[in-house]
Amino acid sequence: MNAAGSANKANNPLWLLAELTYRCPLHCVYCSNPVDYARYGSELSTEEWLRVLREARALGCAQLGFSGGEPLLRDDLEVLVREAHALGYYTNLITSGVGLNEKRIAALKEGGLDHIQLSFQDSTRELNDFLSHTRTFDLKQRIARLIKAHGYPMVLNVVLHRQNIDHVETILEMAQALGAEYVELANTQYYGWAFVNRDHLLPSREQLERAEAVTNRFREKVGNDMRIYFVVPDYYAHRPKACMNGWGSVFLCVCPDGVVLPCHEARGLPGLSFPSVREASLQWIWYDSPGFNRYRGEGWMKEPCRTCPERVKDFGGCRCQAYLLTGDPANADPVCELSPHHHVVVEAVARAQRPAVTARPLLFRDDRNSRALSEATAPLPR
Ligand code: SF4
Ligand code: FES
Repeated sequence: MNAAGSANKANNPLWLLAELTYRCPLHCVYCSNPVDYARYGSELSTEEWLRVLREARALGCAQLGFSGGEPLLRDDLEVLVREAHALGYYTNLITSGVGLNEKRIAALKEGGLDHIQLSFQDSTRELNDFLSHTRTFDLKQRIARLIKAHGYPMVLNVVLHRQNIDHVETILEMAQALGAEYVELANTQYYGWAFVNRDHLLPSREQLERAEAVTNRFREKVGNDMRIYFVVPDYYAHRPKACMNGWGSVFLCVCPDGVVLPCHEARGLPGLSFPSVREASLQWIWYDSPGFNRYRGEGWMKEPCRTCPERVKDFGGCRCQAYLLTGDPANADPVCELSPHHHVVVEAVARAQRPAVTARPLLFRDDRNSRALSEATAPLPR
C-alpha cells in the first residue's frame, strides 16, 4: 500500500499545476490551452482552490505552478500564494506579466512566492505584439525590471517557432540587458492552438540548426552568468520525450473548472472522462480514477513499445501527441522512428523545409475562435 492507503501501486504526485483560469489578455497563436476552452464551466472559487492546495500537499505535491491563461487575472492569487507557502510548497508564478504592479508583487513576495517566470513572444515590439495580438512589449520590459527590483531571479521564457526563431540572438541580448539569470528557449510543442497553427510555426531544419549554433556561441560568451535552456522541437528528435515523466507518475494538473488531468492536454483524448475536484477527492482521482490509471505503467502498450527496451525511459512518449497524429493514444508517439506512423512527422517536417503555404490563416487564441473550433466537425490536420 502507498502512503495514501490505496491498493493501487502508483507513486504519490510531486508536481501540481494549478491552471487558475483560461482567461487571458494575450492571444498567442501557440497557446497550449485547449482550443475549445470557451465551452468549459465556471472557475473554482477561492475556497475550492484552497482545498485543492491542501489535498495536493497531503498527497505529496511539493512543487506548485500557478498558471493559466493569465493567473494574475485572479484577484485571489495573493491568498492562494500565502496558503501555498504556509503549506510548504515551492511556488512558481508562470505569467505574461500583464496585471503585475508594485502593489501586487510586494504582496506576492510577502506571501512567500518563490519564483516568477515571465514570458516574452519576441525581442522586437512588432513581432511580440503581433504574436500576442496585444500591445504588451513595453509593459513586459517594465515588469521584468519590477521583478528584478523585488529580488527575484530573472527567469525569462520565450517560445520559439518559425516566426521568431531567427531572432534568437537578439532575444538573448534582450535577456542579458534585462539581467536574466535563466532563459528558456522552448521550441513550440504542437498541441492545442499550436497544433492548429502548426504549418505556420514549425521551423525548418536550417532555422533550427542556426538557432542552436547561435545559442551555443552565446552560452560561451556569457558563461555562468546566464543559464540558457534550448528545448528542441519533438518533431526533430529521433525518440520521443518521456512526457510528464510517465502518465500519472509525478504530475497532476487542475484545470480552471476543477477537472483534474494527468497532463494539461489530456482533456481532448477520446474515451476518457476526468473527474472534477467538485465531485471527488484528489486522492481518489490520483490513485483510483479510471482516467489516471488508463495509461499508467506499461500494461496498455502496443508494439513496438511493448517489447522495446526504451519504454522504461520514455514510456512510449506522449499519449496526446500519439492521439493527435495517429488517432489512437495507445500508439507509440510517432516522433519515434520505430513507430509505424512516423511518416506523419516526416511529412510535417518536409513541409516545413519550404516556405509556409497553408490555406488555413494563422488562428489567434480568443473566445470567438475557440467557440468556432468547439463547433468544428472537420478533423484537424495530421
Ligand atoms: Fe519509446 Fe516506443 Fe519508440 Fe521504444 S518504440 S523508443 S518505447 S516510443
Ligand atoms: Fe498529454 Fe504528453 S501532453 S501525455
